[in-house]
Amino acid sequence: MPQPRRLHDRYFRQAKAEGYLARSAYKLAEIDDRKKLLRPGDRVLDLGCAPGSWLQVAAERVGPAGVVVGLDLKESAAGLGARVLALQGDVFETDPADLARAAASVAGGEPRAFDVILSDMAPNTSGHGDDLVSARLCRRVLEIVPELLRPGGHLVVKIFEGAEYPGVLGEAGAMFGEARGFKPKASREVSREMYIVAKGLRAAR
Ligand SMILES: C[S@@+](CC[C@H](N)C(=O)[O-])C[C@H]1O[C@@H](n2cnc3c(N)ncnc32)[C@H](O)[C@@H]1O
Repeated sequence: MPQPRRLHDRYFRQAKAEGYLARSAYKLAEIDDRKKLLRPGDRVLDLGCAPGSWLQVAAERVGPAGVVVGLDLKESAAGLGARVLALQGDVFETDPADLARAAASVAGGEPRAFDVILSDMAPNTSGHGDDLVSARLCRRVLEIVPELLRPGGHLVVKIFEGAEYPGVLGEAGAMFGEARGFKPKASREVSREMYIVAKGLRAAR
């Protein structure tokens, strides 16, 4: 008999206890623990950042010398620290140069490329074609990567498994030294979400 979905699971309670805005915090924490992506001083772009738990985890890991810029259709939580800037907008309509400029407005100096790009963007699930919308979001991320990520930089991008998943994984693999699918423990068993973790952006030829 199917079990009812438990919304308030161990990660939900842990997030409440530890002051994270969402249980998703533990997905990024596990990805980073395993794949070693975020370093002190890094400049990080977090796409689909609301309410802001990945912003919190990224800010902790890059420390006071790092900068984290987020973008989401929705407003993110305020007060996440002087080195965190969350913008509101649609990734399809945002000029990538504005995101690099936003990071420079926090860090000072000229705009430069990000060290790590994260995307936890997801469509509002409807049960019909969600995997296709998710793949479109991923391809938008891959489209802006060459302009925004430094050679050697890393990418984490959420994708709903479906017909487009192997293709998107292959496209990431062609751009990076390594690209693999990863399902963190905090990702619900019933969810079709996966993360493509791509390390070492190849320099443009
Ligand atoms: C799973 S939530 C992100 C949770 C976030 N990582 C956290 O830890 O708090 C997915 C987010 O993707 C955002 N999103 C979906 N489509 C987007 C788009 N076209 N541009 C920007 N953000 C988008 C949604 O508004 C939503 O807030």
